[in-house]
This record gives sequence, C-alpha cells and structure tokens, in this order.
Amino acid sequence: MGVAVVTGASTGIGKATAVRLARDPGTELVLVARREELLRELAESLPCPATYVAVDLTAEDAPQRVRAHLEAEHGGDLDLLVNNAGAAWRGSFAEGGYANVHRHMELNFDAVVRLTEALLPLLRKSAPSAIVNVASTAGRVSRARSGAYSASKFALIGWTDSLYAEEKEHGVHVGMVLPGFVLTEGFPATELREKAATRWIVSKPEKVAEAIHQCGPGGKAERYVPRPYGLAAALRILSPSLVRRVLSGGGASSLTTSTGGDQDAG
Ligand SMILES: NC(=O)c1ccc[n+]([C@@H]2O[C@H](COP(=O)([O-])OP(=O)(O)OC[C@H]3O[C@@H](n4cnc5c(N)ncnc54)[C@H](OP(=O)(O)O)[C@@H]3O)[C@@H](O)[C@H]2O)c1
Repeated sequence: MGVAVVTGASTGIGKATAVRLARDPGTELVLVARREELLRELAESLPCPATYVAVDLTAEDAPQRVRAHLEAEHGGDLDLLVNNAGAAWRGSFAEGGYANVHRHMELNFDAVVRLTEALLPLLRKSAPSAIVNVASTAGRVSRARSGAYSASKFALIGWTDSLYAEEKEHGVHVGMVLPGFVLTEGFPATELREKAATRWIVSKPEKVAEAIHQCGPGGKAERYVPRPYGLAAALRILSPSLVRRVLSGGGASSLTTSTGGDQDAG
C-alpha cells in the first residue's frame, strides 16, 4: 500500500475505509470532504501519515485542488483512489423534477468523473494502482422516490465497467462496491431499524470498508455488501416483471428510507 485518496472520509463508509486502509503498512492517506474539523480529527487519530483537503467536490476547481495537494504533499504518487463521497435526496420525479436529478448527477457521477480525470495520470504513473467506485445496489434496482439517486448510480456503474476495460492495460485496476442498506449519517435507515422484521438487513460501514479494500488493493472486480443483495440485482435481470411488481406494492414504501439529505433540506 502507498498513497490513497478517500473521498467522503469525514463520516460513514469513507471514514471506516480510512481506518481500514490505515492498518496496512506503508499507507499514506489523503482524506477529502467538506467538513475540515472532522477531517482534521480523523487525520490526527490514524496510525499512519494522513493529510486532508477540505473541499466541495462539486466545485469547479475541486479536482485540481486535490491533484495539487498530492503533488505538493505526496510527491505526485497515487496508488489508490476511493470515489466514495455521495448523497441522496428522496422524492418522486413529479416532485423533484430535473433539479433533483441534476443535484444527484453533479455529486454522485460528475464529481467522480471529474476527480478521476484529474488523477488518472498520477494513477497510471504509480501503476500497479487502483480505483474503487462506491456505487449502490440502487444502481441495479430502482425504487419509487429514489429514481434520481438510482440514475446517478446506474450511470456510475456503466462508466466503471468501461473504465475497468480501458485501464487494465495501463495497470490501473478499477473495482466497484455496491452497498445495500448501511447505517451512516447520510443513510440512517430509520424506517428499517425501527422494526424487528427489517432491522437485520441494515449493515455496518466497516463491512463496506473491508469490501473496498478487497476491490482496490485486493484486485477484486466487484462486491455487494451484504453479499445477498446481489440476488436482487440478478432477479432484476432475470425477472423484471416480478421485481417491478414487488417494488411497486404497498410494502415496498418502507424500502425507500429517508436520508440525511432530506433532513438537511428541513
Ligand atoms: N449507507 C448506505 O446505505 C449506502 C448504500 C449504498 C451506497 N452508499 C454510498 O456510499 C457512499 C458513502 O455514503 P455513506 O453512507 O457513508 O454516507 P455519509 O456518512 O453521509 O457520507 C457521505 C460522505 O460524502 C461527503 N460529501 C457529501 N457531499 C459532498 C460534497 N459536495 N463534496 C465533498 N464531500 C461530500 C460527506 O462529507 P461532508 O459532509 O463533510 O462533505 C461524507 O463524508 C455514497 O456514495 C453513498 O451513495 C451508501
């Protein structure tokens, strides 16, 4: 392990990933998110060298700021890029319209593409190296009131598969992790945790962090977390009418949980 950038490292899956990567000998971490205080606290608590860039990844100059930081503080080396920062705001298309689709694409897809574009030359120079994109099971199976989020993750998955095929010959492995329900600040899964019947399907950020490790330095192509969520993705291909029927039935509404983005919006 060498230099690793983790976006969305201030909380949740990104923070757990930083903690997991820090256990590998030789790791140097670059933590990226907006909340500087949280990044500073995490950097100081890790058992490996860690710096941070406090930046809004949707800002025009964000990719160049991260690249300039790597060049100034880490000699322009980059062995692992974990594209993890992301968010969701629930709502039907009739309510949220294009504006809601746009804000999801801007953060969950465009910002990932723009950062990867800026850092790909460093990853190629440091090859063998890796990228891990954090998508979602929602990038395979879409629920009501979550279409904008799903669209951004479907886009990320399609682009990731293509990038994997293109970068293989350059020694840059491109892995992907598809979490299901994982308890974090942005995805509290309150509706599922309130009921004994559904509590068990909510997983932990540390499990996703382990999968990110397997799909980056470990060289795996793709992991669902928890693994059985892969069955939902397979069923969506094999029996679309069944999956659509189940996901548009009365009980399916509890599967579109409210998010941190909804709470921020008031
Ligand atoms: N938890 C789940 O159930 C679940 C399921 C499937 C996929 N995922 C995916 O997993 C990833 C991590 O989510 P999480 O569950 O760990 O949620 P989280 O705890 O809310 O973490 C999101 C991270 O992204 C950062 N972020 C948000 N907007 C940003 C922006 N504009 N610029 C820079 N950083 C930004 C946040 O930090 P700041 O607020 O400090 O900027 C935070 O560190 C996301 O891509 C999410 O879509 C999560």
